[in-house]
Amino acid sequence: MKIGVIMGGISSEREVSLKTGQEMINHLDRSRYEAVPIVVTQRVDLITQVQQAGIDFALLALHGQYGEDGTVQGALEILGIPYTGSGVLASSLCMNKQLSKMLLKTAGIQTPAGHYWRDVYDPQAVEQLGYPVIVKPNLGGSSIGVQLVQNEKELLSAVQEASYLDQGILIEPYLKGMELTCAILDGEVLPIIGIRSAHSEWFDYRAKYEDGGAEEKVTELPPVIEQRVREAALASYQLLQCKVYARVDMILCQDIPYVLEVNTLPGMTANSLFPKSAAAAGMTFTHLLDRIITSSLH
Ligand code: DAL
Ligand code: MG
Repeated sequence: MKIGVIMGGISSEREVSLKTGQEMINHLDRSRYEAVPIVVTQRVDLITQVQQAGIDFALLALHGQYGEDGTVQGALEILGIPYTGSGVLASSLCMNKQLSKMLLKTAGIQTPAGHYWRDVYDPQAVEQLGYPVIVKPNLGGSSIGVQLVQNEKELLSAVQEASYLDQGILIEPYLKGMELTCAILDGEVLPIIGIRSAHSEWFDYRAKYEDGGAEEKVTELPPVIEQRVREAALASYQLLQCKVYARVDMILCQDIPYVLEVNTLPGMTANSLFPKSAAAAGMTFTHLLDRIITSSLH
């Protein structure tokens, strides 16, 4: 089977995507699949390259906008090429942190309070959340453009920086607790990973991708709490209509898991969490990719 590994793209997470793609190519089972790298550098590239390559299946290594947000999934649907992971709706919903948080709240799933705005700057509403706060571009990923802000003085520059990446800005109170992530494969929650960033108070870009940036290991939680975490992860995955695989990021604060977001195309770099969780469940990267492809085809 000819597998197009689609990577790169035009989002702020291009570099991460290239690493994900390379890692996938390195680990695809060569006895079953022929890997065709497809590096996207412009929007129109994707369609021409996919058509020229004559692939049977698209293994998506893209992250962020024009990759993880339903647009590429829609193009592949139109071209009739099967692809990995969630469909158009789940992909766009999960990319939009504010909208997914609204749905999570409606379903009774805990998520940090949030203040969202486009264009209108309202420091008063942020004051009500209580400092410190986390400022995020609403459609971002990999913590690019995200900042921890201690007071109103720091707010303006953080908002400006985030707005280079997206006009929509999401501000959440900074919850002190342990960051956790739940990799989900075919509706099953794999071992939960707890994260301790080495140099910062939260899991920022350096912590995510630099060697030694964070300690990430399977975490032992009291059974009741573990159950709560697993249920919140699975409920979020199901509510947002994810398919095949996704990673749910949370903060455990006073024994309550607060869902931060659901990633429909989680990072698969050598430093990424999903493959670590799969390894803890006894799965090699090669086996994991095989499961993702097989499940996406059904
Ligand atoms: N957005 C990055 C790639 C992740 O969630 O792993
Ligand atoms: Mg993300």
